[in-house]
Amino acid sequence: MTTPDTHQAIRPRRNRKSSAIRTLCRETRLSCDSLIYPVFVHESPHDEEIDSMPGCKRWSPDGLLREVSEAHSLGIGAIVLFPAIEEKLKSTSAAESYNEDGLIPKIIRAIKNETPDITVITDVALDPYNSDGHDGLVGDNGKILNDETVEILCKQATCHARAGADIVSPSDMMDGRVGAIREALDEDGWNDTSILSYTAKYASAYYGPFRNALGSAPKAGDKKTYQMDPANAREALREASLDIDEGADMIMVKPAGPYLDVLALVASHVDVPVAAYQVSGEYLMIESAAAAGWINREDVIRESLTGIHRAGATAVLTYYAKEVAGWLHANKD
Ligand code: PBG
Repeated sequence: MTTPDTHQAIRPRRNRKSSAIRTLCRETRLSCDSLIYPVFVHESPHDEEIDSMPGCKRWSPDGLLREVSEAHSLGIGAIVLFPAIEEKLKSTSAAESYNEDGLIPKIIRAIKNETPDITVITDVALDPYNSDGHDGLVGDNGKILNDETVEILCKQATCHARAGADIVSPSDMMDGRVGAIREALDEDGWNDTSILSYTAKYASAYYGPFRNALGSAPKAGDKKTYQMDPANAREALREASLDIDEGADMIMVKPAGPYLDVLALVASHVDVPVAAYQVSGEYLMIESAAAAGWINREDVIRESLTGIHRAGATAVLTYYAKEVAGWLHANKD
């Protein structure tokens, strides 16, 4: 047994002895400034609950305008738009993805009209528009066609920029798409439109609830020939240097929670901002455990987002963005 008079000069607990001191010593703070709110929209007058993502909605265009304006008043500075496209508009060529009168360009224009100061980020990938459910075009042999897809992604990105998107965000993982999109945007006069590239996007089972929300699951095969192998971390650095060389303004790691090591590695190697995406499966695991009464919902949400920031994320995409903004607004700690 240690004698009671053992001298213990260094006592880390002193920095934890009161809430005020803990606050003072805190290295990472949750703030609305770094939260990005992903939202779903569909061409329907009704806001619909999403079965696979309880608490999230597929918004009608009007419902989304209200939601975005509320989120903005709570301090959220940026949203990402995801469309649920009607089956009849999907095709193997995904041509709806660059229709100037399509759902996304229309909603961008409406948001820019209603809440002009919010940063609008759009997802650039073919899966919501592709009858095959893949992020790229599918060739005869079931292969995902890289260069043919990139051409369409360029049209899609330009179409979003014309409608007023501030940032386009390619989530498709085709090779060379960042450079091609940068060139296409610049040629069309959009050298001010930013690119947030999904750089280290893993072939993850955590996307399941999202695909259900958009009805965008692949009809055949999986996404493993383009999304990254979950076993690899160093490969993320290779993707990062390519994307940055090709002109990405910001890059992303996705999912976030199960890939904190990748996030920390990437963040320590690059000189551009690094976003992380707390994806639908991460959301759903927290929601289901909380609904069962097994965890404290708010504490786990705060801790999960703090962990993602601590690992090195400059910004975090989370379905909790608006709710957390409400908590931070009310100054609840
Ligand atoms: C597809 C896309 C996906 C997500 C964002 N963009 C799904 C996929 O790659 O299959 C997932 C987001 C989430 O799970 O919350 N371009």
